Amino acid sequence: MSSARPFPDGFLWGVATAAYQIEGAVDEDGRGESIWDRFSHTPGLTANGDTGDVACDHYHRWPEDVALLAGLGVGAYRFSLGWPRVFPDGVTPNPRGLAFYDRLVDALLERGIVPALTLDHWDLPQALQDAGGWANRATVGRFTEHAETAFRALGDRVGMWITHNEPWMVSMIGHYRGVHAPGLTDLDAAVRAAHHLLLSHGEAVRTYRALGLEAPIGITLNLFQTYPVSDSEADRAAAVSSTEYTNGWFLDPLLRGSYPAAMMARFESAGVDPGFVADGDLATIGTPMDFLGVNYYSPRRVSAGGDEFGWVVQHGSASGRPTTAIGGEIYPDGLTDLLVGLRRDYGPLPLYITENGAAVDDRLDPDGHVHDPDRIDFLDRHMAAARRALEAGVDLRGYFVWSLMDNFEWAMGYGPRLGLIYVDYPTLRRIPKDSYEFVRTVAATNGAVVRGT
Ligand code: FCB
Repeated sequence: MSSARPFPDGFLWGVATAAYQIEGAVDEDGRGESIWDRFSHTPGLTANGDTGDVACDHYHRWPEDVALLAGLGVGAYRFSLGWPRVFPDGVTPNPRGLAFYDRLVDALLERGIVPALTLDHWDLPQALQDAGGWANRATVGRFTEHAETAFRALGDRVGMWITHNEPWMVSMIGHYRGVHAPGLTDLDAAVRAAHHLLLSHGEAVRTYRALGLEAPIGITLNLFQTYPVSDSEADRAAAVSSTEYTNGWFLDPLLRGSYPAAMMARFESAGVDPGFVADGDLATIGTPMDFLGVNYYSPRRVSAGGDEFGWVVQHGSASGRPTTAIGGEIYPDGLTDLLVGLRRDYGPLPLYITENGAAVDDRLDPDGHVHDPDRIDFLDRHMAAARRALEAGVDLRGYFVWSLMDNFEWAMGYGPRLGLIYVDYPTLRRIPKDSYEFVRTVAATNGAVVRGT
């Protein structure tokens, strides 16, 4: 049954991007090299050898992009601070890099848009990687300096802070699966990287509190709602274990003060040295934050087996349900289940959906339009799923669409398009899609047009 009615007063509608995916201008104003520059320039690691060298050229075209944001009428814009712009060698600050974000924040405020700033969206300075990167505990201190520099420069104007984006992706996909930068396949390094990301989050929150700043601060996790493929005991146990790997490994230390013991044992038997947790680390990681950011795209369906930790993840299409253009299963109920489960298992911490969106095979029509009904349907159904979670008592405060515009989709390059705005890469022209109009109406009516059909 579909129904249309507004969301709670003050619900925050936004859109999201990340520095490396949109900015380009990788050599300007003293910017240093990041691990994604190095990774994307290494032959064979990204689709078509695509790199972020030009991306959407947002670094030069940001006034046009801010005008498009204003036209969209959203309350907030989530973007990230390019770490190698601000600390080109990871250690020495670069005021010219920071100045870019200073201007951007002011321009957003002039348009009445809340700046929601992510401090780390994956673009670690390469110099820090050369010193061991996230697997090296010293990187915790480097991140804390980066955070403090941003707090001091922008803390009077940023309305919402996110320390890290998706530490599971950085650690497990970047350090263990080798699919993302820095491209390692070392489980021990991955588990240490995860710990140092969490520890640096806690250190940054402590620093933020010590500065007396008041806008909300939190972290964004990519959380999976995992379902067993059958009702068998083995498949159900596999789903529980897989959830510990993707979700509990981050949620438990952040919100319960410990790592999940069964997952720790699995890591140890796979060769991980458990000595990475020092006295006091868990207290630091658990420093109270103001909200949790949740990125949700697809559910995970697992069965027992495999040669690793005891589960096998099914491909999105195996469920028989529709998938996005990059093969992710479309299942809005997974979002409701995830949010309700977070509330049940981890308590009443305020939540934001900091990313949700769909890759669609968009085409620029001869009439100059991009009609993307599949994206509109995806967003509408996920927004309705979010509303169901609200009705079930979840303290959900906002919803950010990924993404404002098509951009560099990491290892998949420029093929997947997830934007509300089409980017014609040869000319860099921006063309708002039909979904841009849809989100404009959602924001203007506080979601009253969301039907969930
Ligand atoms: C998330 C990332 C974001 C974007 C989307 C599609 O994992 O945080 O940068 O690439 O996926």
